[in-house]
Order: sequence, then structure tokens, then C-alpha cells
Amino acid sequence: MFAPLNESIIGRAQKAGKVEICVHDIREYSTNKHKKCDDYPFGGGAGMVMMPQPVYDAINAIDKCHTAHRIYTSPRGKTFNQSVVQDLSKREHLLILCGHYEGLDERIIKLCIDEEISIGDFVLTGGELPAMVMADAVCRYVDGVIASESLTEESFASGMLEYPQYTRPQEFIGEKVPEVLVSGNHAEVDKWRREKSIELTKKYRPDLIKN
Ligand SMILES: C[S@@+](CC[C@H](N)C(=O)[O-])C[C@H]1O[C@@H](n2cnc3c(N)ncnc32)[C@H](O)[C@@H]1O
Repeated sequence: MFAPLNESIIGRAQKAGKVEICVHDIREYSTNKHKKCDDYPFGGGAGMVMMPQPVYDAINAIDKCHTAHRIYTSPRGKTFNQSVVQDLSKREHLLILCGHYEGLDERIIKLCIDEEISIGDFVLTGGELPAMVMADAVCRYVDGVIASESLTEESFASGMLEYPQYTRPQEFIGEKVPEVLVSGNHAEVDKWRREKSIELTKKYRPDLIKN
């Protein structure tokens, strides 16, 4: 499931030793002879709940001295956004726990988890995609993974959306690149980009302007 993290920019960052991403299979920590990790919810109801034992043992084996910041991917958690990304990127070590089925036995959250994070107000089948979303966004902020200029000149970096981007050819199906971008006048380009950034933020995300 985590194969995308071995591709493209994050894959290259791992190969270059800039970041290290380790995936652990909770099932391997189950003491049940069939490696069972889920059971019926107390009180009844649909679905299964992840049992505490395998999760507890996995976390304590992986992060024995609790040096990692431990996150549980959870729909009820704090909403993931660029400022959360920047905060997380300052941590040396993150442990991201992925829930499945109906979720996790609540005691594990109390005993082992530092923070619950949601990637939005919708429910997915498991925490794997949220964990990959978090890993990708945070790894971009690790030194040397991408050009630092890209991080300062992108959507949300200064509380606004990015300006429109264009590349060659200068004309495509009758549509021309704005003249200013090929003028060679850097001050004018900066001014145009700033204006477009404000315009697009007002159009698509007026809430950002308010904030
Ligand atoms: C089917 S969901 C469980 C939903 C849970 N019963 C509820 O109503 O909140 C299974 C797992 O997917 C992960 N998950 C689902 N939606 C998520 C979201 N929006 N953000 C982060 N994790 C999510 C969580 O780890 C969750 O335990």
C-alpha cells in the first residue's frame, strides 16, 4: 500500500538518505496464533475494532523510549493543513498509526498517542492514505528534498494561493502566455504574480484572506 512513497521526489529523498520511511505491519506483533488484530466492539454494532495488544506491542517495539511524536490518523483529529505540516517537519521522528475497520480501541489512544490528525471531514477505509498524505507533505519540508524557493513561493506559504504558472510554448491553441512573463522585467513579474495570487485567493478561498 505504501509503494507511492518509493517513487518520484519522496522516493529519491529516501534513496539520498534525506528521509527514512519505515512501514511496520501491526499483524506481526499479534500474540494470537492466527495473527488476529481485530475483534467485535463491546456494546455491539457494525464492524470490527483493532485490538489493543498488537498495536500496543508494535508501538512499544518501534518507539521503545517514546522519542517519536506519535500521531493517530483519525477523522476526529485536528485538521491537517500547511501550518500543521510545518510544525511536524521540525520533529526528528514521527510515528504515524493507521487505523482500520471501525477504528482503534480507545485505550491505545489514551496510552500511546500524542496527537490525532484528520486529513478532512470524510471517512476513508483506513489510515494508510492519510499517513501517506502526511508523510509526503512533511518530507517536502525536510532540508534538501525540494528547492527551498518552491516552499516559500507556493499556495498557503504566505496564507494565499499561488499565482498561475505557464511554460512553453508561448502560444497554445490560440491561448497566449501573459506578456509580462516574457518581458524579462522581474519587478513587473513579481508585481503581476502578487496581484494574481490575491485575485485567485479572493476567488477560490476568500476564507484565507479573512484569516
Ligand atoms: C472506517 S475509518 C473509522 C471511522 C470511525 N468509525 C469514525 O466514525 O470516525 C478507519 C480508519 O481510517 C482512518 N481514517 C478514516 N478517515 C480518516 C480521515 N479523514 N483522516 C484521517 N484518518 C482517517 C482512521 O485511522 C480510522 O480509524
